[in-house]
Amino acid sequence: MTNIHDRIQSEYLKSKVMSAEEAALLINPNDRVGTSGFTPSGYPKVVTMALAKRMETEPFKIDVWSGASLGEEVDGVLARVDGLHRRYPYQTNTDLRNAINSGKVLYSDLHLSHMAQQIRYGFFDECDVAIIEAVCIREDGGIVPTTAVGNATTFVSRAKKVIVEINEVQSMGLVGMHDIYEPQDPPHRQPIPIYSPSNRIGTPYIPCDPEKIVAIVYSDVPDGTRPLAPIDDDAKAMSQHLIEFFEHEVKAGRLPENLLPLQSGVGSVANAVVSGLAHGPFKNLSIYTEVIQDGMFDLIDEGKIEIISGTSLSPSPAGLQRFYDNIDEYSKKIILRPQEVSNSPEVARRLGVIAMNTAIEFDIFGNVNSTHIMGSRMMNGIGGSGDFTRNAYLSIFCTSSIAKQGAISSVVPFCSHIDHTEHDVLVFCTEQGIADVRGLAPVERARLIIKNCAHPDYKDMLEDYLERAIVESKNAHTPILLDEALSWHKRFQDTGSMKK
Ligand code: COA
Repeated sequence: MTNIHDRIQSEYLKSKVMSAEEAALLINPNDRVGTSGFTPSGYPKVVTMALAKRMETEPFKIDVWSGASLGEEVDGVLARVDGLHRRYPYQTNTDLRNAINSGKVLYSDLHLSHMAQQIRYGFFDECDVAIIEAVCIREDGGIVPTTAVGNATTFVSRAKKVIVEINEVQSMGLVGMHDIYEPQDPPHRQPIPIYSPSNRIGTPYIPCDPEKIVAIVYSDVPDGTRPLAPIDDDAKAMSQHLIEFFEHEVKAGRLPENLLPLQSGVGSVANAVVSGLAHGPFKNLSIYTEVIQDGMFDLIDEGKIEIISGTSLSPSPAGLQRFYDNIDEYSKKIILRPQEVSNSPEVARRLGVIAMNTAIEFDIFGNVNSTHIMGSRMMNGIGGSGDFTRNAYLSIFCTSSIAKQGAISSVVPFCSHIDHTEHDVLVFCTEQGIADVRGLAPVERARLIIKNCAHPDYKDMLEDYLERAIVESKNAHTPILLDEALSWHKRFQDTGSMKK
């Protein structure tokens, strides 16, 4: 197929082709708009840009629901024209983040596996419009999504009308990579029948009644994926610690030689850890995760991987090019699923996923903050980290032991915000080392986390704090000096450094 018109395989639907400006007129003030897309991949571009243009002269707001973060062409442009009222369930755009942190946009940060079912349960209002980026539309109206699935399946099944953006820069080689399955809701829900990451259980397209499609728009705007920071010494050290830990677990008989399905979170550290595995000793690995980053292509190239299951391709710009250059090979090893399947707690628990996510900070007792800077400023959101962490065979959090050139310790007496509790996380890792806290009581955990994970510049302060807390609480189960724990972060706000 070379002609973009051939990507619409239904003669009836060809009559729905219109300009982005015309399609944008089909969106009304206060509409709840569900979009495809997940971590700047597979999201609509031209209709939302035309909508933002319209809002410049005709100010109004909409709610935007998505899979996860969207690119500049949705979150950036709409935040800048003050066109967003509510946003679910995750974001990473700077302008949107600033609008959220200045009270202009109402943001509800949700576990990513929850969103689709909460829409179907009727917990939010109805979805008015779905805007879905597609590779092509089948004769029967079925929509083949592009580089992400996210919540597109449920937006299509629930929205009153559907707008499709066919993007000609998204390769037809994507056809066949998706596995679309929408669970039924309680009391009729059955187990999701995935017993291995390679299982396919659905259709390679999103079923859609052609009558629901009100507009089809052509696009040639590429995914605005974000560059990954180069793999630095801290990330290399964390990757090495984890590989040694996995080797130890294999020797102890607690993990098979090819490990268990790996889940790896977003960001540079997560990518570095996976990349490290490409040069590590493990073979025949499998991945059951949310986002597929550059490091996973390294695993394919090194012949280390059986299958990668996720909901979104989320590589760097160079990684995206690498994917397209090798799409015939890579597509054999990758399955893209709806996020309620890729992040399903039920499936993660059954497969025994090894969950590796990145923290902003963790405390000495094992609570983790993934979302808030200094307790109140939203960074991105919890994403899928909770979906996996709570249900993993092994739940691991990594972070550099210090942030802001050492002015901040990422190991603290008590987190300024808690996303994952001391009950959820089993292993902590910084460039300093690993704390395996399985089975330990709070004080044992605290001693080990300080000893193995804290930066030398902060170790004495944390040890001094802990020992005083033990004495002053008279050996209470979880010794905490509330005033001091809560004022720990304030030191940074007052003096620009936690050390002073
Ligand atoms: N205190 C204050 N600020 C901190 C900090 C700390 N302890 N640790 C990091 N930061 C700041 C960094 O300085 C940086 O700020 P900047 O944007 O002003 O430069 C910012 O937080 C991001 O840190 P960085 O080291 O670049 O992070 P990253 O790319 O590795 O991402 C998270 C880390 C936690 C933000 C990211 O993993 C995330 O959003 N996680 C939640 C969602 C998730 O886990 N999804 C995966 C599920 S599959």
